[in-house]
Amino acid sequence: AKDFGIENEPILGYAKGSQERKSIENELARLSSSCTEVPIVIGDKEFKTKDVRHQVMPHNHSHKLAKFYYADRKLLQEAITKSVETQTKWDRTPIEERLRIWEKAADLMAGKYRQELNAATMLGQSKTVIQAEIDSAAELIDFIRMNAYFLKECTKYQPISENPKVTLNSMRYRGIDGFVAAVSPFNFTAIGGNLAYTPALMGNSVLWKPSDTAILSNWTIFKIMREAGVPAGVVNFVPADGPVFGDTITASPDLAGINFTGSVPTFNRLWRQVGENINNYKNFPRLIGECGGKNFHFIHPSADVESVVTGTLRSAFEFCGQKCSACSRMYVPESLWGKIKAGLIEKRNTLKIGDVTDFSSFTSAVIDDKAFARITSYIEHAKNSSNLEIIAGGTYSDKKGYFIDPTIIVSKDPLDKVMRQEIFGPVLSIYVYKDADIKKTMDLVNNSTAFALTGAVFAQDQKFLEEALETFKMAAGNFYLNDKSTGSVVGQQPFGGGRMSGTNDKAGGPHYILRWTTPQSIKETF
Ligand code: ALA
Repeated sequence: AKDFGIENEPILGYAKGSQERKSIENELARLSSSCTEVPIVIGDKEFKTKDVRHQVMPHNHSHKLAKFYYADRKLLQEAITKSVETQTKWDRTPIEERLRIWEKAADLMAGKYRQELNAATMLGQSKTVIQAEIDSAAELIDFIRMNAYFLKECTKYQPISENPKVTLNSMRYRGIDGFVAAVSPFNFTAIGGNLAYTPALMGNSVLWKPSDTAILSNWTIFKIMREAGVPAGVVNFVPADGPVFGDTITASPDLAGINFTGSVPTFNRLWRQVGENINNYKNFPRLIGECGGKNFHFIHPSADVESVVTGTLRSAFEFCGQKCSACSRMYVPESLWGKIKAGLIEKRNTLKIGDVTDFSSFTSAVIDDKAFARITSYIEHAKNSSNLEIIAGGTYSDKKGYFIDPTIIVSKDPLDKVMRQEIFGPVLSIYVYKDADIKKTMDLVNNSTAFALTGAVFAQDQKFLEEALETFKMAAGNFYLNDKSTGSVVGQQPFGGGRMSGTNDKAGGPHYILRWTTPQSIKETF
């Protein structure tokens, strides 16, 4: 990884007594012992408004971790002006210089600040140390490093010049004049880094609205990028009320694009507002969004039961089911159900749910009161419905933190809402199908939800796998054969889905960066 190539950042182990264990424990103690002040940053100025907010620890919600401020319309307008002003100059910064900054940032994240990033993610978003390491270390560093690598690679392509003495064809990759709005979610710290800093890498300037529930980790990214050399005004850090932010950015003629991860209704709203203002823009704003899923595991009668059980529990319950890619519905043939059911219940009972500072916890709390209310409403629905049976879990408490036990629901109705709607929490819904109805069930998997983010098929039967590749070609942007539906790695499985899951621009792939550029073809005649 040292030579700025395409290798993924290795994950550290955190064994008791190891150096990384000691340093993460220090960082956890340091960040929990005070409430960090997080300002709004526009250009080189910091602001604090009267609209004060707090980020709490989801696993211990009386503990305030960070204090931050909402930017009002006036400040957002100021940030737009600053971004637009900065963009032209920033876009002239040679690509080599930008690559140097990104390389330095990746090294800072991998070294000096690794544990600060991880601790902020653990405490603020209730991730275990390994979950934090996967997110705010490995995936974040990979995004920073590999997008820079992809930029370097794409500039190598130059159009053909048949007789360079007479004419020379070339291509340059410019940022888009105006500003890009990055709206990032709580569930992955790395996504914030990608949404804000990939447009910046490409010569754009950015208004970054982080999620209220990921403030501290996102602020840490901002500080590191600044230290690495991203000039003031290129990325402006503006926590804000969602609708106020949306109204302000979409009303500006300088809106160059929106880089979004969040819910379908919010993305729809932004899209509609852009539509309403379409005659006012200088450019057609790029709208890039990832909006969730109802990810499936489809089990064929030839599947290996052990890998189904382990893969499904990991996919559904790691990260509290709050990964966009988490398995949330599973289809099991009657012939395997006895064994799979026994395996799921037995292994689920070994999962320890607890505090993130207890290094033996498998997962911790869900993100906030709203998530807790939404997820538990599905559990209550299951308790009250004769079509649904809870075979594991079903218990929860928000006394100290927002804890929900990993819950498995069996649904007699394949169209019940637990099989169709995104729950985004530790709830797995299962439909047991008759082996003879396999084709009908595959159609159901394809057509019973609005989403198409991730999906997995488990089968030893090779012919069936080929059939599944065809049948499910529109059902999942990231599709797994004999592996769980989560765990995509930057550069290895570029990530994104179609249908209502988003615009499928494949974050972490070589083409993503091109969405944030407005290339210019130049023919020079001598
Ligand atoms: N990289 C994450 C996963 O696929 C989104 O689980």
